[in-house]
Amino acid sequence: MTTVDPHAQDGAEPARTAPCPAPSVRPDPSPLRFHGAVALVVGAAHGIGAATAERLAAEGASVVAADLDLEAATARVASLPRIGEADHAAVGLDVTDRGGVDEAFAEIAERFARIDVLAHVAGGNVDHGGPAQTGDEVWEGLLDLNLMGPVRTVRAALPLLRRSDRAAIVTISSVNALVVIGGEPYAAAKSGLLAFTQNLAAHVAADGIRANAVAPGTVRTRVWHGVEGGADSLAPLYPLGRVGEAADVAAAVAFLASDEAAWITGVVLPVDGGLLLQGPGPGHG
Ligand SMILES: NC(=O)c1ccc[n+]([C@@H]2O[C@H](COP(=O)([O-])OP(=O)(O)OC[C@H]3O[C@@H](n4cnc5c(N)ncnc54)[C@H](O)[C@@H]3O)[C@@H](O)[C@H]2O)c1
Repeated sequence: MTTVDPHAQDGAEPARTAPCPAPSVRPDPSPLRFHGAVALVVGAAHGIGAATAERLAAEGASVVAADLDLEAATARVASLPRIGEADHAAVGLDVTDRGGVDEAFAEIAERFARIDVLAHVAGGNVDHGGPAQTGDEVWEGLLDLNLMGPVRTVRAALPLLRRSDRAAIVTISSVNALVVIGGEPYAAAKSGLLAFTQNLAAHVAADGIRANAVAPGTVRTRVWHGVEGGADSLAPLYPLGRVGEAADVAAAVAFLASDEAAWITGVVLPVDGGLLLQGPGPGHG
């Protein structure tokens, strides 16, 4: 919360002396870290975004669930917990449609005076061949969805985030941005998203806005339904013995968005069951 300058003149705008106060070493036992906060979750209808919306609402936030799939976002909003005065809303938003993003934010601004948390989760990958077979259309589509999408939502959200005294942005990258797993356009887009998030963090820090990224490993969502063996077939790759659940990622997003992370900005947090720990194995170093 902002510390108010006691010397400010009556009626004058109070000076912001501590935009990111330190958390107490004896934290408030209340689990409602987002009580009174407005959280915009982009891609909230399904998967990791839906779990993030659920988690933030359960901790007291008013959630704006934005998604391409407005019908599913509306159903999601209806099922979210409502704590106290929380007021959830569903908004149709295609992050690949520049004009549409601006229209959606005009709708959000009519209903909410500010945004405290922006969790940009929407993204995805498609099947395509190796570098020699992958044409411009696939590259442009994946870069547009996974890199320009978050760029557009952050750009449109900044005026509303600047009205908050605890603003935090969390983007969802991927372990594909950190190690070579395959899928060049997706990996390039998610690496670009990390660079964008870190440059953004440096740029908006003076406004008291934090920006961090989460890099999940395999998370059991609908995107794995068509894959032979499903997400669980990849469990043996994970030192912790299982693939991730959407709730694992939502918990990390909630931490980075909360005041407990008040002095953390510009980081990428892998949420990967230890996947990135693995080197070439014993005897190689
Ligand atoms: N599932 C995984 O294994 C995994 C791993 C690493 C990173 N990720 C990333 O996590 C994020 C969420 O993935 P998920 O597995 O939950 O996927 P999902 O398909 O279950 O959910 C994605 C959500 O984004 C929405 N969306 C898609 N395109 C959109 C657009 N153009 N505009 C607005 N909304 C749009 C969808 O409607 C859906 O609600 C993605 O960015 C993905 O790249 C997923």
